[in-house]
Amino acid sequence: MTALDPAVLIPAEVIGRKVTELADRIARDYTARQPLLLIGVLKGSFIFLADLSRRIPLPHRVDFIALSSYGAKARSSGEVRLVMDLRQPIEGMHVLIVEDIVDTGRTLAYLTHLLGARKPASLKICTLVHKPSRREVEVPLDYVGFDIPDKWVVGYGLDYADQYRTLPYIGYVEPGN
Ligand code: PRP
Repeated sequence: MTALDPAVLIPAEVIGRKVTELADRIARDYTARQPLLLIGVLKGSFIFLADLSRRIPLPHRVDFIALSSYGAKARSSGEVRLVMDLRQPIEGMHVLIVEDIVDTGRTLAYLTHLLGARKPASLKICTLVHKPSRREVEVPLDYVGFDIPDKWVVGYGLDYADQYRTLPYIGYVEPGN
């Protein structure tokens, strides 16, 4: 770590333990709920999904959807865009959406509406990080790693203007805009 690296909010070891805990809970809950499909919301969830998926000791598939609401800006525009859709239909599948962060909740409100219309057997949400103080739209969260304060968090998939995603820990920066 250098003086220019973001300040640490959640160290890598703490994230690792939490991911294992979430994977254990998910494995218990989905033992009798097959087929299971994890859907990663790109880009931010790619590292969390990779770690979570490998720690769930159940057969499951993985797919991705890309949504965007922030672009290069620090705050959400409030308008969610579908950038890339799933590869496969989800009808009859037990779907678990995997997010890196829930902030206003607008991305998940859009996504649960979109996917719910495709008739999955069930639709639940797992997010690593949640900012309760920023919520604008109510969406039930089934698995939450960490509730955090209203800081701009980066690392472990999270970005600021597409930077810092590959940091092993979750840190925070002070956005300039
Ligand atoms: C981030 C994050 C969530 C969303 C949460 O995505 O990955 O999908 O914002 O914000 P909300 O609860 O206010 O909707 P972003 O649009 O920054 O795209 P990215 O995942 O490609 O970084």
